[in-house]
Amino acid sequence: MAKWTYSDKVKDHFMNPRNILREDNEADFHGIGQTGNIKCGDEMIVYIKVDPDTLTITDCKWRTYGCASAIASTSILSEMVIGMTLDQAYAITAKDILKELDGLPDNKVHCSVLGDKALRAAIDDYYRKNGMEDRVRTKGA
Ligand code: FES
Ligand code: FES
Repeated sequence: MAKWTYSDKVKDHFMNPRNILREDNEADFHGIGQTGNIKCGDEMIVYIKVDPDTLTITDCKWRTYGCASAIASTSILSEMVIGMTLDQAYAITAKDILKELDGLPDNKVHCSVLGDKALRAAIDDYYRKNGMEDRVRTKGA
């Protein structure tokens, strides 16, 4: 039987999502990545600011049409990545996000891949814009 409850952390991040992009200031960000979830057709966009000297993420914002689980997953992801190097952030998996959230109901696990996928696309977008194409691992944004 599938789990029918959300953890307290999921509820908290859904009710009080962190780091949502609320202003139209996309131009202030250094990398933007967009992805969609083929299972439900929801879109996710992640925006990052990067310190060019240390290749560290200094800010991470996002927007989505995704569900409560996608919102909670990306909210916690945005907190996790600030202060990480691009390499560290790139290595984050849906499993890491689930761990931070204390899990998701089984039929909602697919929602947690939206944020990390969009984040990797944002990192690759940063590499493309800054002459580091050799580091790009995803296909065109
Ligand atoms: Fe499925 Fe709204 S997209 S309930
Ligand atoms: Fe579409 Fe969760 S993001 S069902």
